Amino acid sequence: MTTFDQILPATAEILNEGSHRETVEQLAWLVINRDLNGRVRLIAPEEAERNEATRQVLVTLYHALAERIAPHDYPVASGILFEADREAVCMGATHFPLPGIDRIWVIDRLATEGNWAKIAPESPGAPRVVFFSIKGGVGRSTALAATAWSLAQQGRTVLVIDMDLESPGLSNALLPPDRLLSYGVTDWLVEDLVDNGETVFPDLYAEAGFNTQAPLYVVPAHGAEPGEYIAKLGRVWMPKIGRTGTPEPWSARLCRLLDALENALRPDVILIDSRAGIDEVASACVTDLGAAAVLLFAIAGRQTWSGYRVLFDHWQRWGSVREIRERLQLVAGLVPDDGGRNAYVDQLLEDAWELFSTTYDEAGPDDTEAWNYAPEDETAPHYPLAIHWNRGWFGLSSLRPRLGNADDVRAVFGPLLEHIERLLVRETPT
Ligand SMILES: Nc1ncnc2c1ncn2[C@@H]1O[C@H](COP(=O)(O)OP(=O)(O)OP(=O)(O)O)[C@@H](O)[C@H]1O
Ligand SMILES: [Mg+2]
Repeated sequence: MTTFDQILPATAEILNEGSHRETVEQLAWLVINRDLNGRVRLIAPEEAERNEATRQVLVTLYHALAERIAPHDYPVASGILFEADREAVCMGATHFPLPGIDRIWVIDRLATEGNWAKIAPESPGAPRVVFFSIKGGVGRSTALAATAWSLAQQGRTVLVIDMDLESPGLSNALLPPDRLLSYGVTDWLVEDLVDNGETVFPDLYAEAGFNTQAPLYVVPAHGAEPGEYIAKLGRVWMPKIGRTGTPEPWSARLCRLLDALENALRPDVILIDSRAGIDEVASACVTDLGAAAVLLFAIAGRQTWSGYRVLFDHWQRWGSVREIRERLQLVAGLVPDDGGRNAYVDQLLEDAWELFSTTYDEAGPDDTEAWNYAPEDETAPHYPLAIHWNRGWFGLSSLRPRLGNADDVRAVFGPLLEHIERLLVRETPT
């Protein structure tokens, strides 16, 4: 029996067989529709239905396909649909071209909205920097807090959003008890479903009160009293059905919230603490919010790299890796602090190179246009910005006492801070 991963390779093989390929190449388009249960139908143009010879080849083709991909098939009689317009068929569904033959599209229908497939264009306002990691507990939130404080201390207005909705913590670590808020991102997303976002908006953010040069605003995942948090969390992913009946995906609603916060607070930079792992919220943070940079936190170990490999392979398959790769930057979290460069960092660099180099272009020595880096190039996105493990930063219930001394912060988070500072200089219009 065929299993899921064999569906597309087997389909490509059947389509490429002699007479099938000839017929398929004459079609204006062909869609391979992989439905919610992982069953495949072909959708062809209406003209093909009217041309008896073409229709017959499609039936023979589906017959062969059904035999190959069973049980991911339909009975031949219901396995082929005919439609007037390909764009209407693809509308609202994630789709990508099947490599090898022109004008063949795969539509992949998922039960979840987050498909990780394409990255939204960079948002035009303040640069959005997403802190993401494939595994949890790698020092991501701590690094975000240190970056936020440091930038605010340098006079940049910073907005921090805690999107780790399923295990929030950043806001409690950053805000003093007397500044904790009544609401958080989760409350806004739920109220927005009934057009009540404005009620919670004014009590959704607080200035952290560090006495930094510029304000540091924090938007928590939930208020000081989480309330019926599980009941709310189960609704944040709801698309909103507008008056016209068109659903607005939840990540678009989240973008609306970010735009409103940006409008109200005028930050120079927005730092977003994403959830770890291949998760629905993480998908929105990494691909849908118009991030200028996505920091990929990594620690040594097979699990880190196999997790990132899943994402990179997905981006290759969907043909989106070229747009995504320029926003990525690897960060090494919790690097053992035995001074200077060490075997741990070397191993990370080797693993990171193996992962990223598959996204680099093949380039000759004089090819300056190619997007390519040498393994040891410190400016390359695969070159890990090392954050050293430091006893003073371990296991803090509040980060506030640690944030105050710029030298102290820079000693641990220096390479990351410099990277974000360079990004802001590049992105800030003069
Ligand atoms: N540079 C550091 N040196 C020492 N300990 C650190 C450092 N950074 C973070 N830690 C500690 O490591 C633990 C995990 O850190 P943190 O909560 O920042 O990770 P995270 O990746 O955000 O985790 P989660 O996935 O749970 O959100 C905490 O106990 C934190 O105090
Ligand atoms: Mg965290």
